[in-house]
Amino acid sequence: MRAVERLEPGARAYLDLLAGCLTRELFLDQEWWDADLREWPDDVDALRERLRERGWRLVRRGDPTARAEGRDWPPTAETMVGTARLGNVVDCCVAAVLDDVPGDFVETGVWRGGATILMRGVLRALDDPGRRVWVADSFEGLPAPGEDAHPTDVGLDWSHVGALKVSADDVRANFARYGLLDDRVQFLEGWFADTLPTAPIDQVSVLRLDGDLYGSTMDALRALEPRVAPGGWVIVDDYGGWEPCRTAVDDYRADRGITAPIHRVDWTGIWWRKP
Ligand SMILES: C[S@@+](CC[C@H](N)C(=O)[O-])C[C@H]1O[C@@H](n2cnc3c(N)ncnc32)[C@H](O)[C@@H]1O
Repeated sequence: MRAVERLEPGARAYLDLLAGCLTRELFLDQEWWDADLREWPDDVDALRERLRERGWRLVRRGDPTARAEGRDWPPTAETMVGTARLGNVVDCCVAAVLDDVPGDFVETGVWRGGATILMRGVLRALDDPGRRVWVADSFEGLPAPGEDAHPTDVGLDWSHVGALKVSADDVRANFARYGLLDDRVQFLEGWFADTLPTAPIDQVSVLRLDGDLYGSTMDALRALEPRVAPGGWVIVDDYGGWEPCRTAVDDYRADRGITAPIHRVDWTGIWWRKP
């Protein structure tokens, strides 16, 4: 049985509604994407010019399957994680509270903040009195691979990708939009290698990694996995879909002798539970 099924109907309805807003799944009929003109079969330049002259944009609908599976980078949604992986966030956080697994909730790599907003929503839905939600990100996108980068990160320079650069103030505004910005939400601003080792977090019940790269995943695991409480969860967003992330997780688990079984969420997300 999923942990969410143990909730009162009102709490469950709130979390379902919150998740549907955070992914914009509830509003896909109102969402428009700029069409990719490279796919236009004929004379793209002439079309571009005519659109520009008129001040028009060519747009297309969002794709419900891509959104459900978390395979797109949505134009306005607060998360790109998709429905199945958000459901996993809810299940782990709800189980942590209901089963008294001690510790805070953490996400390393938050983008617009959606998964951490949902974590805070779980605390509200369950009237949890003390846990905090840690929101860790550079808030300026991915790091460029350094000279000592792991081989799987070499050549993966996404540091220029503007769509991944979301400021801390924008993420705070997203929390506030849902009435969930308060002192239980703690921001760790900067590169994981600098912020996580000294972060004032004693114990973690749910650790969610979503930093894409080998280095980002390894930095987060080294700093925070040892602080996960017995019975706590480690969730990895990019394990199935990204070789650098998968290699970091496999290396870390082998190095620390972690044999807890890996459970799949969907085509890329996984989790394991600390014994
Ligand atoms: C795929 S996005 C996260 C998606 C997010 N979890 C969601 O719910 O949509 C990856 C994020 O990781 C951050 N990131 C990656 N590596 C980092 C590092 N080494 N230090 C700090 N932030 C990092 C990026 O800034 C970006 O916001």
